[in-house]
Amino acid sequence: MKRDFAETLRCPACRHDGTLALAEHEDDGREVREGELRCANCATVFPLHRGVPELLHDPPRHVLAEAAGLERFAAKMRQEGWTRQTVLDLPYLDHGYWYVQARSMHQLLTTVPFSPGQSVLDVGSNTCWAANHFAERGLRAVALDIATPELQGLYTADWFLESGEVFFERVLGSMDAIPLASSSLDYVYCCEVLHHNDSDGLRRTFAEIFRVLRPGGRLLMVNETLKTLRDPQGLHVDAVAEYEGYEHAHWAVQYRGEAIRAGFLTEVIEPHYVAYFGDAVLLGDSSAGAFRRLLRRLGFMTRRLPPARRAYLAWLNHVAGGVSMNMIAAKPHRYIGRHEGVRPAERAVRRLAAAARRPVDRRRGVEAPRLPRTPEQAAAIARAGGVG
Ligand SMILES: C[S@@+](CC[C@H](N)C(=O)[O-])C[C@H]1O[C@@H](n2cnc3c(N)ncnc32)[C@H](O)[C@@H]1O
Ligand SMILES: [Zn+2]
Repeated sequence: MKRDFAETLRCPACRHDGTLALAEHEDDGREVREGELRCANCATVFPLHRGVPELLHDPPRHVLAEAAGLERFAAKMRQEGWTRQTVLDLPYLDHGYWYVQARSMHQLLTTVPFSPGQSVLDVGSNTCWAANHFAERGLRAVALDIATPELQGLYTADWFLESGEVFFERVLGSMDAIPLASSSLDYVYCCEVLHHNDSDGLRRTFAEIFRVLRPGGRLLMVNETLKTLRDPQGLHVDAVAEYEGYEHAHWAVQYRGEAIRAGFLTEVIEPHYVAYFGDAVLLGDSSAGAFRRLLRRLGFMTRRLPPARRAYLAWLNHVAGGVSMNMIAAKPHRYIGRHEGVRPAERAVRRLAAAARRPVDRRRGVEAPRLPRTPEQAAAIARAGGVG
């Protein structure tokens, strides 16, 4: 941890910002590796080990069980041949899961106007491959997780940092009590992690993400596990039950509804890894009959029609499934009021006012423009000088 990072931390015991003072025991010239943080307000002391401030305060049993399970899962991965090099190659592995991660990261990097120096929190960072990606692009990245083991937690970051070419912070803490100061971040990135919450936890987590973002900041929600009408269970984790992951699929309306409740302006995003929304060409399916092939071809042609794209996305997210959910949620510039202690009714009114004001603010340049939705729109913007 860099020395000045202490200023942006929040004591998870008394929930005060900027009260943690760092006492150093060991420094490797780049960061403080060993030490402790003491809260000037409530006097709680938190260890700092291997560069990671340990700010997981009073965690519930299921969080401890999941963290212990990840330790066992890391041992299994080692047996199956995962190495340091495999992690350094992420997300570019020859595997369906990792294709989706790589395509989704590419989608973000080509549609979101990241600028060097902006800050991003990678929630549930696991190996920290995404935090590393952001840091490589000059962002000030922070990885947050409840687990530390190499291959399944924050200590894996050392493999990326050893090159000396990138740096990012790592924090042990929980997404439903984020140990970072209010309004301190430009982006919060959540990839396959919000579903590690039950319904109450999901509500607390959206409120926490809203709190830590600065006005105008964005939550980038990527690949969240869905319940749909065709698959109302949504999660199929029997094979990994022994690792005690605290996983809960939620309905698309629940993810979006909780984001709105927290105060966000939301937009559901097309998953570009699905060929219909992406830059793929329609491959012939020789096993299908002529009529079916014609239907598919006609369906594919509707890609040019925005209402057809919206209808198909809604069909997938609510009914058919087979996709995970992507959403970008912006914290409004205006009328946000205090982050905490605002009653839901007042927050709803403030959010409505901000939403109504948004088109005017966009025209005046106060609010960021709409993000490109399709790969074609992203490419056009890139040709014109890049997103931003
Ligand atoms: C499926 S993995 C996420 C994968 C990662 N984002 C990636 O793209 O490789 C879920 C991660 O969320 C973490 N996690 C679970 N509960 C959490 C919590 N309450 N706060 C922060 N992280 C949590 C787990 O430790 C695990 O590393
Ligand atoms: Zn405190």
